[in-house]
Amino acid sequence: MSLQRRTTLAKYLIEQQRENHNLPADLRLLIEVVARACKLISYHVSKGALGEALGTAGTENVQGEVQKKLDVLSNEILLDANEWGGSLAAMASEEMETLFPIPSNYPRGEYLLVFDPLDGSSNIDVNVSIGTIFSVLRCPDGQDATEQSFLQPGRQQVAAGYAVYGPQTVLVLTTGNGVNCFTLDRELGSWVLTHNNLQIPADTREYAINGSNERHWYEPVQRYVGELLAGTTGPRQADFNTRWVASMVADVHRILNRGGIFMYPADKRTPDKPGKLRLMYEANPMAFIVEQAGGAATNGAERILDIQPKSLHERVAVFLGSKNEVDRVTSYHREEK
Ligand code: AHG
Ligand code: MN
Ligand code: MN
Ligand code: MN
Repeated sequence: MSLQRRTTLAKYLIEQQRENHNLPADLRLLIEVVARACKLISYHVSKGALGEALGTAGTENVQGEVQKKLDVLSNEILLDANEWGGSLAAMASEEMETLFPIPSNYPRGEYLLVFDPLDGSSNIDVNVSIGTIFSVLRCPDGQDATEQSFLQPGRQQVAAGYAVYGPQTVLVLTTGNGVNCFTLDRELGSWVLTHNNLQIPADTREYAINGSNERHWYEPVQRYVGELLAGTTGPRQADFNTRWVASMVADVHRILNRGGIFMYPADKRTPDKPGKLRLMYEANPMAFIVEQAGGAATNGAERILDIQPKSLHERVAVFLGSKNEVDRVTSYHREEK
């Protein structure tokens, strides 16, 4: 791709703003600032043991997970980058107990930013792909956000995206008008549009689930995965391949590029906790992206984007990716009832 003919993220967003009035200038700026913060996180990730970002921070987040230094650093980078831009009323994150209102010494805007600053924490120290996930909502209460302002169903997101810090650093973005992927040119420091209008094939022979939890799954998931494992002599009459990175960003990115189904189901160990992943900053942004790419996303019972959140850190079961497989596992849940 010649340097002159490249479309950068900045150019792409300005074109979107001109063509599509759903992308106001302050939302465009907000997305650019988030993307800039991801560059800085990528820099720290790439330093590995040469920098100061590996290892644990010695603290726990609100969900009782041990925080890695990079969880905390990435959270700080996103807060610092976004607090002064003027587009936001407040932010919320996996690594903060409650919302972060924009300090009074900066102008406030009418958007809310929600993020998982570092997804795939268990992979940080072993040099496997990790990422950042974000979601943007309008603040229904103008510039004065409360925790309640965030509790909107995912279909109301105005933008969502993720960065993957892997062999390449990429940024995947939707503003409700398809899904595009930008690759970071490290020397120039710019995000370059490299994958246009990504589409997830409806059929697949690949699935992602943490199989070590099999004995704890509920019947519909045991049935669905059991049928996949049965291969050519089972009811599906086909061989299926397992892929599990243990970083949701990396698993979803693979699915976006070549199809597949990703599952993190609820299980019998914790009947009070529907799954491990978080609705606001993992499931909703990924569901928005996947639907925009022609895929589907449910919690087994309903469309993820239709769930009314009750709290900031609420968890949810997740089935997303190639439409026909998501429909199938969802129908097994419905038959069970
Ligand atoms: P996070 O690192 O943000 O806490 O999220 C981790 C999540 C997700 O990225 C991944 O799909 C899943 O946890 C991995 O879970 P297992 O440890 O069960 O494989
Ligand atoms: Mn975590
Ligand atoms: Mn995560
Ligand atoms: Mn995280």
